Amino acid sequence: MRSALVVGVVMFGVAGSGLFKRAEVPPPPLDAPLPTAKPYGLAKPPFGTVSSTSCAAASCHGGGKLDTPRSEYSTWAATAFTNRKLYDPHSTAYRVLFNDDSVRIGKLLGIKEPHKEALCLKCHSTEGVKPEEAMSEGVGCTACHGPADKWLDVHMLPEWKTLSNETKYTDYGFVPGKNLVARMTNCVTCHVGDADREVNHDLIAAGHPRLAFEYTRFQFNPTYRHHWDEVMPQPDFEVRAWTVGQAVTLRAATDLLRVRAERAAAGDTKTPWPEFSGLSCYACHQSVTGGDVGRDAAHPRRPAGVPGWELWSNAAAGVAAELCPDAFPGVAPPGLRELAALRKLMQKRSPDPKAVAVRAKRAVAELDAWLAALQTAQDKGQMPPLALAAPRRFAHALAANALSADRAMLADYDWDANSAHYLGAAAMYHASGGRANEPKWSGPIFGLANELDFPKRKSGERFDSPAGFGDAKRARVRDSFRELFDATSGR
Ligand code: HEC
Ligand code: HEC
Ligand code: HEC
Ligand code: HEC
Repeated sequence: MRSALVVGVVMFGVAGSGLFKRAEVPPPPLDAPLPTAKPYGLAKPPFGTVSSTSCAAASCHGGGKLDTPRSEYSTWAATAFTNRKLYDPHSTAYRVLFNDDSVRIGKLLGIKEPHKEALCLKCHSTEGVKPEEAMSEGVGCTACHGPADKWLDVHMLPEWKTLSNETKYTDYGFVPGKNLVARMTNCVTCHVGDADREVNHDLIAAGHPRLAFEYTRFQFNPTYRHHWDEVMPQPDFEVRAWTVGQAVTLRAATDLLRVRAERAAAGDTKTPWPEFSGLSCYACHQSVTGGDVGRDAAHPRRPAGVPGWELWSNAAAGVAAELCPDAFPGVAPPGLRELAALRKLMQKRSPDPKAVAVRAKRAVAELDAWLAALQTAQDKGQMPPLALAAPRRFAHALAANALSADRAMLADYDWDANSAHYLGAAAMYHASGGRANEPKWSGPIFGLANELDFPKRKSGERFDSPAGFGDAKRARVRDSFRELFDATSGR
């Protein structure tokens, strides 16, 4: 998002999100009992760590044959400079702090050396490694697999395999990444943020890319070279990964809101309130001349002047909640009533941080219980193969949710809300085998990709905005969702 495209900053409300269209239910009382189940993987393990070079022996993970087992280190490390088309961005995450963008961000924020700044290091390097190792480390093995002091010597022994995932995490600090909840809970500490680290609007305005995480989109990022093969087959993997990703990202964003609200309520002057990076960018950043401003008289919408809270992580999450039993048989759809009450509190121009803090904490408890159920189902192996029609059902529900009840309009005009639905549908298309199995979806899927794509960058520009997301474009987005809705009906 560059200034050239951000023609003016105006405060207008945009249309109401798909999630808001359901009948109003009164918020649950604040003393109503809350579920207490939590997934493991939330609290940081209190163990020391080792550097990635400890994993790099040829007989361990440094075998040197890229993309094969026992060469995970080689795959992670070797490709970043030799092949920018297919590489692991984490191995060079620290070096990024020396580039022109980082220097410029630093200048604007009054940071002399970003590569020494604790805030930047929290996400661009590996916690616990020695400063002199930061360069070769970047975001290294233990940043994702857990601090390795306790498990390094035992994780290759036969007995290791007999331990439960939860024991591996709580007693050894090992993140059991085959469990999708544990895996993604770790990704979002850097890719959404937490109490310890965040990319707020100050950083974004200084030039940092906005953090907009969607697991399946990131996992299948065309330039990301992973060092593993998924054991779970398609379509099961992506249907489940999308569902878990929605829950994990929403939980992280809600907890970040809780942290910010608690700080603001305590009078912390360093915490801006409300924090703009958690609000819809396009509610404020609109072209005042280009017809971007989405105000349709017949449309349900947020109150004028109020940007939506976290449309990115809220807009499609209701579909993941509702269809949860289709992905994880036996896991009941979570009601998410606290979350609905929280969203309502945030529908104000200046939400009350005290009330938000209380409700956000309750919403996090509700989301934790959902995550715990998803995590347990996977650890217990309650994972029967999914029917081939599963991706189709998800894509259909996503298309329906993106459209208003009579399918005549979009449920939400916001770019974030539409993109969240598109990314879910694209994951389902991919899971189903794509054009070979679902030829009728190709048109609408690629149509949506095309309409929602940011304008091509001019050279020298790094981050753009969806300028021109006005009436004509929105009509084409609506038509594509309608086409997808029809193409996924029946069977
Ligand atoms: C909350 C974690 C977090 C913090 C704090 C953070 N970053 Fe980042 N940064 C990221 C992530 C994640 C990405 C990748 C974003 C994406 O593509 O989705 C990124 C991307 C970047 C990029 C673009 C990289 C590229 O390859 O184009 C730059 C430059 C950057 N960060 C610099 C900084 C600087 C300088 C600081 C400190 C002032 C900082 N970051 C603080 C998480 C963080
Ligand atoms: C950005 C996060 C991330 C980083 C950094 C990372 N990994 Fe992984 N790794 C994963 C994920 C996700 C998986 C797949 C789930 C699992 O097996 O845990 C995985 C899988 C693996 C596997 C199992 C491979 C298989 O086929 O089952 C090994 C071994 C491994 N990683 C080693 C390493 C080593 C060694 C490093 C450091 C050079 C490293 N990883 C860095 C995320 C990461
Ligand atoms: C310790 C922090 C950290 C963790 C944990 C982490 N990442 Fe990252 N990730 C980063 C940073 C920083 C960047 C930006 C690096 C750059 O651009 O050079 C990044 C970049 C990426 C990118 C490239 C994004 C782009 O726009 O090109 C993908 C994809 C990605 N991460 C996926 C994941 C996944 C999946 C996980 C969990 C399995 C994960 N990351 C865990 C910090 C982290
Ligand atoms: C409540 C309104 C509001 C929201 C929401 C908002 N911004 Fe901003 N943004 C502003 C204002 C006002 C400025 C100018 C003042 C400043 O630089 O802080 C600005 C400045 C910026 C700039 C610097 C522009 C320049 O010309 O240098 C960028 C980039 C930016 N915002 C991106 C974003 C992104 C990305 C989001 C969503 C994650 C977002 N903003 C959400 C109001 C908002």
